[in-house]
Amino acid sequence: VPDISLANVQAHLGDLQTIATNNGGNRAHGRPGYLASVNHLRAKLDAAGYTTSVQQFTSSGATGYNLIADWPGGDPNDVLMLGGHLDSVSAGPGINDNGTGSAGLLEVALTVSRQALAPQKHIRFGWWGAEELGLVGSTYYVNQLPTAEKSRIKAYLNFDMIGSPNPGYFVYSASGQPTGSLALQQTLQAAFTVPTELTSVGGRSDHAAFARAGIPVGGLFTGAEVVKTAAQAQKWGGSSGVAFDRCYHRSCDTLTNVDATALDRNSDAIAYALWTLAGTGGGTP
Ligand code: PHE
Ligand code: CA
Ligand code: ZN
Ligand code: ZN
Ligand code: ZN
Repeated sequence: VPDISLANVQAHLGDLQTIATNNGGNRAHGRPGYLASVNHLRAKLDAAGYTTSVQQFTSSGATGYNLIADWPGGDPNDVLMLGGHLDSVSAGPGINDNGTGSAGLLEVALTVSRQALAPQKHIRFGWWGAEELGLVGSTYYVNQLPTAEKSRIKAYLNFDMIGSPNPGYFVYSASGQPTGSLALQQTLQAAFTVPTELTSVGGRSDHAAFARAGIPVGGLFTGAEVVKTAAQAQKWGGSSGVAFDRCYHRSCDTLTNVDATALDRNSDAIAYALWTLAGTGGGTP
């Protein structure tokens, strides 16, 4: 499993911050900073050899966009999908929520390309629009998929907030999720050397649409508005009695609102899950 470059992930985050700064301070659905974010990622993925498409939908009177990137090859009937939302709230640039998941996924995708990975499974990435309006983009994507196409997606992994400034290390619990989710949970747990906790994220992010369709789901999360306990601060460091992300959905969710160690560990964990689950023959150079 390759080591994902933290510097590269941070560079993508810097790009998203610049996009927000140049577009009125946010990357929200229906605002120019959102489409600029889509176009920025798409250009990098195209240059890396991905087959990309941008799916349009309408929400609250504005056009939304999902960015889908397929890595050529692999069994088309055995698709491993990884995603996260690319939109921010309108209050700010959304760098932890969810620039971090978006940037981590992008760097993992670019690493797949650099290594010319030829996995047994077909790999697909999704960056969702209008999550902050109620999981709109991911729900649209799943609902418009023909039944046969839906059944080809054997797993979906979600990454929404993976660099919280006072981080916890949370793995989505498979409890209550479709059969097959437990293996995803266990793979994501095995990706960490630091202790993790299970969390029931319920319907709070984009995996929900996939779960509703019966697709096994998993994901990672470093925490939002909830306060870190003393026991959690003991095992993870950081500040007890303080929110995992005190800038959650605020204008201060900027480049400085990210814990680099959490971002690095979680980006590496995305790669661990992909390399482990995609059938890569046990590793690459
Ligand atoms: N989906 C929430 C948001 O974007 C963040 C979140 C993710 C909360 C996972 C809980 C669990 O604001
Ligand atoms: Ca790394
Ligand atoms: Zn970038
Ligand atoms: Zn949010
Ligand atoms: Zn989010």
